[in-house]
Amino acid sequence: MEPFKVFPLYDVNIVRGNATRIYDDQGKEYLDLYGGHAVISVGHTHPYFVQKVTEQLNKMGFYSNSVINKLQLELADKLGKMSGYEDYSLFLINSGAEANENALKLASFHNGRRKVVAISHSFHGRTTGAVRVTDNPKIIAPINEAFPVEYVPMNDIDAMKKALAAKDVCAFIIEGVQGVGGIRIPTKEYFQAVREECTKTGTILIADEIQSGYGRTGKFFAHQHFDVKPDLITVAKGIANGIPMGGLLISPMFEPVFGQLGTTFGGNQLACSGAIAVLDIMKAEKLVENAAKIGDYLMDKLNLLKGQYGIIDVRGMGLMIGIEFDKPIAELRKRLIFEQKTFTGASGQTVLRLLPPLCITKSDADLFLTRFNTLLSEK
Ligand SMILES: Cc1ncc(COP(=O)(O)O)c(C=O)c1O
Repeated sequence: MEPFKVFPLYDVNIVRGNATRIYDDQGKEYLDLYGGHAVISVGHTHPYFVQKVTEQLNKMGFYSNSVINKLQLELADKLGKMSGYEDYSLFLINSGAEANENALKLASFHNGRRKVVAISHSFHGRTTGAVRVTDNPKIIAPINEAFPVEYVPMNDIDAMKKALAAKDVCAFIIEGVQGVGGIRIPTKEYFQAVREECTKTGTILIADEIQSGYGRTGKFFAHQHFDVKPDLITVAKGIANGIPMGGLLISPMFEPVFGQLGTTFGGNQLACSGAIAVLDIMKAEKLVENAAKIGDYLMDKLNLLKGQYGIIDVRGMGLMIGIEFDKPIAELRKRLIFEQKTFTGASGQTVLRLLPPLCITKSDADLFLTRFNTLLSEK
């Protein structure tokens, strides 16, 4: 048997990591400005993370959600305090798609409605509900067309008001900062208008912070730049530094009903130990502040390149940065890996996406800028 081919692969076998560096099976070192797609938050093989997860694994990696799991209580308490959402509750699952799936479900149980409004170019995952609200017809199978969805352009307040006006919308789902769609940032005015309109029309506001949350944009959640409080917040990616985990932060307006939500693996002891270690490290090493600081530094330097080498725009928040070119970047990304030993991400055909571990240092940022400039000036 072979793995089912779902993505084209780079011909490199990454076997080891340390902080912002990864190594292939030949021992070659690469700078990781990709974080395995925003998943490595506190750095590869952080010693405290490894110690806590190893200790837990030696005690017990998993037991059922039908008994008390004090690690879930500790995680919820720490997450509430660090994120500013102490009055919300936490439901733990295993991925981003599952977090959005459960958010949509909870919203629909709450108001009894079916229609969802999402933003053009959104990405929310690949399971039925999550992919249905993803604005990419190529990845929506006929079986996923389970409920009505309307896509509205980001930052168009009139279109949003029109979509919600009939008071028949179950949920409005929006990424804190759009990732796959090309690092698109909602305006504060727009996010606040969405909040207001959702409240007026009985629509549940879901903020998908799976990529933009957990410190990445220089605040704990991206929507906190806009001074709004969503009813449901979804998280995943970096929350356990690579151990599969997703989470749903739930406003006190939702009453839990036994049996409505549930999971076998979600919130297991191993994943919780990793997630607690991540929050401990983020606090001790001030990684949210670091994301803001190094993000600003990178943005300042990258902005100087605008108008050169086919770069038409640089946009981002903290360590979620998009560099838009006037041509496809597939070759550039490949050459960055093989010639400049640097991993980056992409959004679509033309946007190079930077999602480094939150522990990136100024000298890592300088090394990236040197390698990036070297490659661009060779072309
Ligand atoms: C904003 C956003 N939502 C949801 C997801 C889906 O997460 P997962 O791949 O863990 O299901 C992603 C993944 O890239 C994402 O970027």
